[in-house]
Amino acid sequence: MTDKCNYSLLAHNTFGMDVCCHRFMEYETVDEAKEVARRLSDIRAPHLIIGAGSNLLLTTDYDGVVVHSAIKGISIVENGQEATLCCGSGTTWDEVVGWTVSMGYADLVNLSMIPGEVGAAAVQNIGAYGAEVSQTLTGVQAVEVNTGQVVNIGAEDCRYGYRSSRFKQDWKGRYLITHVCFRLNRNAPFILDYGNVRSELERQGLLQPTAAQVRQTIIDIRRQKLPDPKALGNAGSFFMNPVVERGQYDQLVSTYGSMPHYEVDDRHVKIPAGWLIEQCGWKGRSLGRAGVFERQALVLVNRGGATGSDIVALCQAIQTDVQQRFGIVLQPEVNIV
Ligand code: EPU
Repeated sequence: MTDKCNYSLLAHNTFGMDVCCHRFMEYETVDEAKEVARRLSDIRAPHLIIGAGSNLLLTTDYDGVVVHSAIKGISIVENGQEATLCCGSGTTWDEVVGWTVSMGYADLVNLSMIPGEVGAAAVQNIGAYGAEVSQTLTGVQAVEVNTGQVVNIGAEDCRYGYRSSRFKQDWKGRYLITHVCFRLNRNAPFILDYGNVRSELERQGLLQPTAAQVRQTIIDIRRQKLPDPKALGNAGSFFMNPVVERGQYDQLVSTYGSMPHYEVDDRHVKIPAGWLIEQCGWKGRSLGRAGVFERQALVLVNRGGATGSDIVALCQAIQTDVQQRFGIVLQPEVNIV
């Protein structure tokens, strides 16, 4: 295991923030995770569990212990049409998607090219193109920080919602996730009716696409819309898409007839934050060294040398404008520390 003091987090966050933590611990096995739990209990300093830092905005040095899983590996047990997939929490998420697609499973294909690692996927309930990880996730194995015990947590206990779970709420910091398991099915249907996935496939003449073709199409769509963090620091969608009461939606749509929306349930409607931000004139604009991406207004970017405070200032300016114009308070999706 790794246990270092005064450690730079520059390589651990896709926004490219050059900040340090007081101590950094990384575990490669379940036993090492137990050892990390023991040391955390001894030290009693605050701790922050990170994945690949692709949904993280670091605003200052962290005066505590940053913990990262480096447990790698993918294993599968196949049983007829079904399979149980188990992945180390430090495995790169897209490696898992690519591997399952190459094995002939389409369950995770819509989640292609989402940055980050498996453990964070289970914390964040990552989603894209009409799919969420909670639809296939069956359970999580973790070490409880306070007791050092290995626990198996069923998906039903994780209270998955849109980009949320108990790991972000009352369980925050409580578990060091070591493995995440999924149920796959060879007959899993494709979900193509979200955004322009189907029209992109049809444009290529792919009326009955394979999982590999859907994966490539989703990768191409994402590449067009989302900046590569290696070239331009960012953490994907900075805000969540707000869910509003139907009454508020009806009022808004009577003024803004072109407002896109997704049905949530009888009483709620989800509105794309990117559209709200664009309407406020922020798309492509900058505030100091922090900017709003030209091709997707939901993505805030580091134009070079921005600090976490620069990004937060831009976030607040956008929140103020969207609230004044639409009466909607945008909530960050990114974890701001
Ligand atoms: N839109 C605009 N202007 C913009 C951006 C979007 O008008 O600048 C409109 C689009 O025209 C479209 C709608 O907003 O009608 C939705 O846009 P898009 O399909 O790009 O998706 P999104 O709602 O902005 C969500 C997820 C993304 C995910 C995509 C595709 C959240 C917070 N974001 O974005 O997830 O990839 O859908 O499923 O739910 C992430 O979480 O980091 C992420 C990238």
